[in-house]
Amino acid sequence: MRAKKIHISAILFFLCICFLWGCGKQQPAAKNKLYVGITYYDQSDTFLSQLNTCLREQFDQLENDDLEITIAVRDAAGSQRTQDDQVEELIDAGCNILFVNLVDRTDPSEIIDIAKENNVPIVFFNREPVAEDMMRWDELYYVGADAKQSGTMQGEMAVDAILANKRIDRNRDGIIQYVVLEGEPGHQDAIIRTESAVNTLKNNGIQLEKLGYGIANWNRAQAQNRMMQIIGQHQNEIELVLANNDDMALGAMDAYKKLNYTESALPVFFGIDGTDVGLQAVADSELTGTIYNDKEGQSAAMVKLAVALISGKGLEEIEFQNDRYIYLPYSKVTIDNVDDFMDRKKQ
Ligand code: BGC
Repeated sequence: MRAKKIHISAILFFLCICFLWGCGKQQPAAKNKLYVGITYYDQSDTFLSQLNTCLREQFDQLENDDLEITIAVRDAAGSQRTQDDQVEELIDAGCNILFVNLVDRTDPSEIIDIAKENNVPIVFFNREPVAEDMMRWDELYYVGADAKQSGTMQGEMAVDAILANKRIDRNRDGIIQYVVLEGEPGHQDAIIRTESAVNTLKNNGIQLEKLGYGIANWNRAQAQNRMMQIIGQHQNEIELVLANNDDMALGAMDAYKKLNYTESALPVFFGIDGTDVGLQAVADSELTGTIYNDKEGQSAAMVKLAVALISGKGLEEIEFQNDRYIYLPYSKVTIDNVDDFMDRKKQ
């Protein structure tokens, strides 16, 4: 009996060894397999849906015999709870890297905890976690852009336009009557863009009078609604609209169109992002300018970082700020150079 037991154990042991050996042979080495889980705060966001296209294109170009890439994309549709669950599900499914566009940038703790437990690095992007949260684990990274730079550039562009074209001050009172349309409260890009744009105008000697402001959560339809109310209060007094992104600048323009304002009664509009529709509006001289939010550069940085983290190679070539942050620069876009930016898409 005892001899039989030993015999069975030996066979089982032999089978296990064969099984493990077989698995090892069939499965590509883990470092050559990139399984990326991406979750967006809201996939209907214009800028982010275009960034997602860039990411996919770049992953497609990267795939080769040595690197197998799988991508899983999730839309949190504005719920942090949903996003927390998505991260858990993506880790269970085997993702070995996460790209997280937080719903609530002040509440990443659950996501960080579960990623840390499972040793899956996170690249946060576009919605920057607060510094204390980024310190919670050394496998947390951020890719985005410097909000202050975009606001300052928007302000500079508005200064240039106002100085070059006296007709922007339509009532010729030497003061520019303006309206601001802001993104989500609490988003690092909203308040900072507004403050730096307005301060730049003031520091360059432009006298300003704020007629109104609206929070439109980055959204074109909300911006249109808010702008219709402001126009209702101020009719044709508004000379300048500063919007935290292109969609809201276009929403403000929609409001004027809907109210049938003639061109001579329109303010000048400035956006940020250089989305496809934003660039087209600059080319059509509807938007006086926008600031290019470099989605190609940001997605390239995310992809490069992911490959370096998984393969263990190339991390030293990446230029980080404060060890784990990558900020891509913004650029000014006007009618003079808009074609260059529209061409980027075709490349
Ligand atoms: C972009 C907005 C976008 C937001 C989403 C900002 O950086 O300029 O267009 O809606 O990010 O988080």
